[in-house]
Amino acid sequence: MNRLVIAPAARIALIGTGQVARALAVAIDRRASRLGSTGLRLAWLCNSRGQARPEAPEWRGAVDRLDRTERSQRTDPSPELADGLDVVIDLSASDAVAARHAEWLARGMAVVTANKRGLGESAARADAILAAGRAGGEYGDSATVGAGLGGVRRLRELHACGEPVHAIAGVLSGTLAWLFDRYDSRRPFSELVREAHAQGYTEPDPREDIAGHDVARKLRILARAVGWPVPDGSVEIDPRLRCPEGPEPWAAIVSLNAGIDELFRQRPDPSARPAVVARACPERRVIGLEWLVPDDPLAQRSGCDNAIVIHSERYRERPLVLRGPGAGPELTAAAVLDDVLAVLQGRRQRPAWAA
Ligand SMILES: NC(=O)c1ccc[n+]([C@@H]2O[C@H](COP(=O)([O-])OP(=O)(O)OC[C@H]3O[C@@H](n4cnc5c(N)ncnc54)[C@H](OP(=O)(O)O)[C@@H]3O)[C@@H](O)[C@H]2O)c1
Repeated sequence: MNRLVIAPAARIALIGTGQVARALAVAIDRRASRLGSTGLRLAWLCNSRGQARPEAPEWRGAVDRLDRTERSQRTDPSPELADGLDVVIDLSASDAVAARHAEWLARGMAVVTANKRGLGESAARADAILAAGRAGGEYGDSATVGAGLGGVRRLRELHACGEPVHAIAGVLSGTLAWLFDRYDSRRPFSELVREAHAQGYTEPDPREDIAGHDVARKLRILARAVGWPVPDGSVEIDPRLRCPEGPEPWAAIVSLNAGIDELFRQRPDPSARPAVVARACPERRVIGLEWLVPDDPLAQRSGCDNAIVIHSERYRERPLVLRGPGAGPELTAAAVLDDVLAVLQGRRQRPAWAA
């Protein structure tokens, strides 16, 4: 006799109520109204100012309500999660939150993240997450590079089947692509950064983007996806992108103007396209300002697209090129939802003896 088995809704914790969290809530509510139910219950929710245990099945209202909490309130930077949750979704950019990923995995929760500070920061933190993964923890991080463009997943697949990967290169920041496509030396580079900031294309402190910190995290994630060790301090960043630290981000950005101007005076020919390119091979990881010739696959992008080029044994003659829109809350949220559904699908299909 066929029996209809209705799986209980998965209990989800959501960390963050920002742009990506709101887009995720909309996507889940829309899916629920299309399918009747998504099997995803928002059991717990927090931002840096508070937390909630929503009762109603819809996500958007709960996320919006918590997001409207007074700005003056601040809670513990690293949330305490109760046992019994199935999936923790990290949509913060918090280091304190990412520092807990390995522990949550070890406690049996799946972790799905758009926060790059899990596998994109120190070797010790990455090793702890990867060890928890080898012990059975499920870690979904497709959204961390290229907003689900597929680079992380494809590299892991190649690595898992023993394919030697020789080199990875990428234009991994939509913000930097936007800036270097528009800059024409007629006004200071820092003014263009201000324009990007005003349009919401940069992090609140634009040095995160301009100085290559965010790209460095993405490059570490890609390199670690194929098992290359990335010791701390080993990503070399072009000195022309180096921004002084300190409380004054705009003074630091202005200090880049002369170096960027000089670079544009050295344009090799009018068809060359400037880009911040991240390159990794087993021995080295470098982020540099480069002039790309028009037929370079990294130059064949439009708008703020990301591109990832993979050279491996099977892609020796012609590299594998993944290219497309690589940022934006809706795309990022879609990649997060894909990972959540993949985790739950995997759990449903796992044989009883593996539980
Ligand atoms: N936006 C994109 O297109 C995009 C693309 C790819 C990846 N990402 C990544 O996705 C993540 C979210 O991006 P976003 O654009 O949604 O950022 P956002 O709008 O700034 O939202 C971040 C959220 O995280 C919360 N948060 C920060 N620290 C926290 C803590 N210690 N504990 C709990 N919550 C905390 C913030 O709460 P408060 O408001 O209370 O501070 C806020 O609700 C980031 O890691 C980002 O790098 C974003």
